[in-house]
Amino acid sequence: MSLAAQLYPLLKPWLFRMDAERAHEWTTRMMRLSHACGLLTLGRRGAHPGDAPLTCMGLAFPNRLGLAAGMDKSASAVDAWAALGFGFVEVGTLTPRPQPGNPKPRLFRLPEHEALINRMGFNNPGIEAAVRRLRRRKTRAVVGVNIGKNFDTPNNEAVRDYLTCLKAAYPVADYIAVNISSPNTKGLRDLQAEDSIRALLAALKTEQARLAGEHGEKKPLLVKIAPDLDGQQIEALARVFNELAVDGVIATNTTIGREAVAGHPLAGEAGGLSGAPVRERSTLVVQAFRMLLRKGTPVIGVGGILSGADALEKHSAGADLVQLYSGLVYRGPGLITEALEALRGASSHPSTGDSGVGSSF
Ligand SMILES: Cc1cc2nc3c(=O)[nH]c(=O)nc-3n(C[C@H](O)[C@H](O)[C@H](O)COP(=O)(O)O)c2cc1C
Repeated sequence: MSLAAQLYPLLKPWLFRMDAERAHEWTTRMMRLSHACGLLTLGRRGAHPGDAPLTCMGLAFPNRLGLAAGMDKSASAVDAWAALGFGFVEVGTLTPRPQPGNPKPRLFRLPEHEALINRMGFNNPGIEAAVRRLRRRKTRAVVGVNIGKNFDTPNNEAVRDYLTCLKAAYPVADYIAVNISSPNTKGLRDLQAEDSIRALLAALKTEQARLAGEHGEKKPLLVKIAPDLDGQQIEALARVFNELAVDGVIATNTTIGREAVAGHPLAGEAGGLSGAPVRERSTLVVQAFRMLLRKGTPVIGVGGILSGADALEKHSAGADLVQLYSGLVYRGPGLITEALEALRGASSHPSTGDSGVGSSF
């Protein structure tokens, strides 16, 4: 077990007495520091023991497990996350201009449910600052850049914000994730409506093709969706994704539903609920997209992974890759090793025919 995984159970009671956002900032700082001192890779040379390399979307992934967006909004610790064992790290959400996000407090723990509620509101240093940091990264882990719009950009001008971020991120990103599913930016989820998403994605796919020509390399463009979609909405989205040949789907973001935590004193806090209560719904959405998307279009499954079995559940539902965030708060870095071990035995994909290597792009 890694040193970080051994230490976390000792630190957790102390961290849980701290305000949730402060604890997050503290752990990120400590991790960066520990990595700079070589503590995260102590006693290890080269690859992480949990690695099981695969190719997906034309990218070489050391393993199937990624860090979900939101944990490293400013791309400040990518090398450290990779050293902990993640095969890919999605940074952001990043917007064209820096913005402070919503007033604090805006992040809440619901330990009885192994859940979080957040209404961060895309606090981030702006895309250019993140790009400068990503240029300096050393890791070979895949890095996705998750992009969004500024809070004060009206939806009818959102396309301009996404295009600005796509252009800026393109040279440094391995893939770009279009976030249209955060519940904390007013009206953002309206972009999931069929006509809105078609117009947005058509513009982004055209720009992707132009950038591919300019840079001599096509970088995959993925879309991150909400769990709060009914069957008709899922079908409409899948139709548009197939029509426009979107390169992958990330399912799912946090939920605005509160059924699973009803009665909890914090259930009324506005924002997105993540962790164990979103697991089942996210898995169903993964399954639905796997069935509806063109064969070979990868799905990244995210939502409520708190154990190796949960990671495997997402894979069995059709996820080529998986990501986690809230589980790390409750289980610490030991969860990474556990999920990697569970996923190692899952190298061939039942529904896409992905052989573990060379899956299509
Ligand atoms: C505090 C917090 C901030 C988040 N910020 C973002 C974000 O900026 N962009 C995004 O696409 N998803 C964001 N997410 C959603 C996660 O990436 C993930 O989709 C969701 O939490 C479900 O996974 P989990 O149950 O493993 O946490 C955030 C989640 C949390 C808990």
